[in-house]
Amino acid sequence: MSTRRQLLVQSLQAYVGLAVSSLTGGLFATATPGLAQTQQKPPASSADEMTVNSAPHPDHVYSHYDFGPAPTVLPPEALAVKGRHSLKKHAQHHALTAGAAVVVHAVQTDPVFQQLIADQYDMLVPTSELKWRALRPSATTYDFAASDALFAFAARHHMRMRGHTLVWHNSVPDWLQNSAGKYNVRQLLVDHIQTVMGRYRGRVHSWDVVNEAVLPKDGQPNGLRKSFWYDAIGPGYIDLAFQTAREADPHAKLTYNDYGVEYDSDEDSERRKVILALLRGMQQRKVPLDAVGIQSHIKAGSPYAVGKGLTDYIESLRTMGLEVYLTEMDVNEDDLTYNDVQRRDHTVAETYRQYLDVALANPAVKLMLTWGVSDRRTWLNNGPTHHRKQPNRPQRSLPFDSGYRPVQAFFAIRDSFDNRKL
Ligand code: XIL
Repeated sequence: MSTRRQLLVQSLQAYVGLAVSSLTGGLFATATPGLAQTQQKPPASSADEMTVNSAPHPDHVYSHYDFGPAPTVLPPEALAVKGRHSLKKHAQHHALTAGAAVVVHAVQTDPVFQQLIADQYDMLVPTSELKWRALRPSATTYDFAASDALFAFAARHHMRMRGHTLVWHNSVPDWLQNSAGKYNVRQLLVDHIQTVMGRYRGRVHSWDVVNEAVLPKDGQPNGLRKSFWYDAIGPGYIDLAFQTAREADPHAKLTYNDYGVEYDSDEDSERRKVILALLRGMQQRKVPLDAVGIQSHIKAGSPYAVGKGLTDYIESLRTMGLEVYLTEMDVNEDDLTYNDVQRRDHTVAETYRQYLDVALANPAVKLMLTWGVSDRRTWLNNGPTHHRKQPNRPQRSLPFDSGYRPVQAFFAIRDSFDNRKL
């Protein structure tokens, strides 16, 4: 069995464990075969493994931790940072838009959460509800129920939307993955982009047209990832997707989104080079492209620095005439060996601050979104790979804790917005 397949199978096993755990009351100590197996795995070695593993999880199964019932009112600490103290206001004063990824189910079922995001953000993106696996139950059908609900919510609250994502190796429905030549995949991709972008035409700030297309270790001459789309259409799938996207919604900023470009490490340096070459090639071929997303899934206690590599990368993108968006920021604190919450929160906050102080220095950066809002629901508590080192410790990775109180990270993010001198 290939490594990727093994990872997916393990992930499904872990998910079965999660489902059992939530049925039994959701205590994180509940041992299930799936979870036990999960914990024996070695640590994830790269961001790529993290995303591969997380793919099959239904998004509303947040984690196997029991945070108790969601708050029934916003706590005073959250009320104290609304209005002119909010992330969105501080961002606006520094030529930035603050946003967050949300799970639509959470927005639909938690009115206090609705209030929190309306207070804090000008932009939303659904974590998975616009991906193929969510939208495409079959080759001939679309299910827009969840994404429509989020678009309606955003409109009611005068928030803008990002679209994520039209092409991703990790959200290929089983009916397509296992179809073995049954479909004209090129046509299927074109139809999908036209239908999905067409539905929300004029209502999307920017679309992640292609997500995570680069993986140098796959050994392709262009550094592209061997994926379903690559295998089915060839490297031209990227140009095809962007060309189709421009026609489907000329108002949306067409974005190439990727991870693993944040650090001064050899691996990230290689990835930056490959991505820049890909984008330069697209520009030479006159393929429409407006922006580049830097996912910004970073780690507390990373051995690598955030510095020249990221600075030069963003500047290269700026000189190419592209906008830059920080699309999925969070801080994985699984590597921290100490348990004290204050101390961990401090380290997470400083990790946000150091990263943002570097990234926001360039005026090409226009958006800053976190991947989630509160620790109650973060993908970093899902799946087998993100919290192997601290399997019984929920991550404190986002600006709000599980009771919707702003944590030190919130204030560090806001400070970094304020420190922005353009
Ligand atoms: C993640 C979601 O947050 C998870 O709930 C889902 O199971 C898998 O995908 N990079 C991306 C996002 O571009 O689409 C991923 O989202 C996180 C990593």
